[in-house]
Amino acid sequence: MSFDPVAIRRDFPIFNRTIRDGKRLVYLDSGATSQKPQSVIDAEVDFYRLHNAAVHRGAHQLAEEATDIYEGARETVAQFIGAAIDEVVFTKSATESLNLVAYAIGNASAGNRFHLSPGDSIVVTEMEHHANLIPWQQLAARTGAALTWFEVTPEGRLDLDNINSVITEKTKVVALTHQSNVLGTINPLDAIVKRAHEVGAVVVLDACQSVPHMSVDVKKLDIDFLAFSGHKALGPTGVGVFWGKAELLAELPPFLTGGSMIETVTMTGATWAPAPRKFEAGVPNMAQAAGLAAALKYLNTIGLENVHRHEIELTQYLLEKFAEIESLRVVGPTTTESRGGSISFTFGDIHPHDLGQFLDSQGIAVRTGHHCAWPLNRKMGVPATTRASLYLYNTTEDCDALVQGILDAEKYFGR
Ligand SMILES: Cc1ncc(COP(=O)(O)O)c(C=O)c1O
Repeated sequence: MSFDPVAIRRDFPIFNRTIRDGKRLVYLDSGATSQKPQSVIDAEVDFYRLHNAAVHRGAHQLAEEATDIYEGARETVAQFIGAAIDEVVFTKSATESLNLVAYAIGNASAGNRFHLSPGDSIVVTEMEHHANLIPWQQLAARTGAALTWFEVTPEGRLDLDNINSVITEKTKVVALTHQSNVLGTINPLDAIVKRAHEVGAVVVLDACQSVPHMSVDVKKLDIDFLAFSGHKALGPTGVGVFWGKAELLAELPPFLTGGSMIETVTMTGATWAPAPRKFEAGVPNMAQAAGLAAALKYLNTIGLENVHRHEIELTQYLLEKFAEIESLRVVGPTTTESRGGSISFTFGDIHPHDLGQFLDSQGIAVRTGHHCAWPLNRKMGVPATTRASLYLYNTTEDCDALVQGILDAEKYFGR
């Protein structure tokens, strides 16, 4: 099947509507959240319409059907990222997945391989989204471990020159993003994972901006934990994924406690069910898991290689157009080498919020601000940027509309 973004758009009902008095919707904000194909909307609606019941509990047909759908969704996710089924934990979001692993590590007592104390270190990078920075700051504060980081070069790449002095014998956790939501940079995991494992540290990968856009195989990457959000991968909000290697999940203490995650309970204590249930306290997000499974099936039908290739082609196209616009500065790599389709930029002295508002008046949806990566903005010397983030339903027409919108904004603001 040849890749046809125009045909793909027809699967997404939102593209049938217009914006700001009849303008065509140019949606360039998929890095924040993606639009949903009809099949995802149907899967969520059908769950409530036909199968709704609490999973794993009731002794009735609906409960059985709901459980099959929920556990089937787990299998779909596992296949999508090359994992074993019991290694996949449903959460409400990537933010919750990253908090889960950070809090769970903080719950480890002495003797547990995850136990942290003063003298240990946690390594992050300067390009982390706050969701993969603040949980580690908090964990460091609670345990006395040091928080250290890889710096970012002016081009927007990780500076790995001193890799051995950043990841040291003291390092217990290395947490980093696969693809920066601001710069678009795809990080070189091989060297980092190799060094982390050399010193016995675990690698936590924030795959929010990679899993929806390219093929990610947790076994091939040889990472230890991974997090992503359903809503950025064509799925619903309210569902995220936390993945961990089976042997690590077995040793990791729980984060949230309560119903469904126990093996036995007395008035004074409890023992835990094996993973994944140890990490899924309470009635889970069943309809959302069904929606996520439909989203991943949709992506499988299109083929992630096709999605990635299409995004790289559009990225190349937009970067070339941007290079011709005087006073437009791309914040991040200016070639498509090891980068994805999140393109942040500044434009002369027009504030990103003003530019964003002007583009919105033309039907063009972009994101403006610090993109939940405040330290990275500071490092790149910008208070805020405008970000266009591309996905499978974007076209060169969308890119042309953005470029025209930027040029029109220049005239509008009298620059
Ligand atoms: C790289 C990255 N990590 C984490 C997150 C947090 O995702 P969520 O808000 O869905 O939990 C985002 C969201 O923008 C992101 O881009």
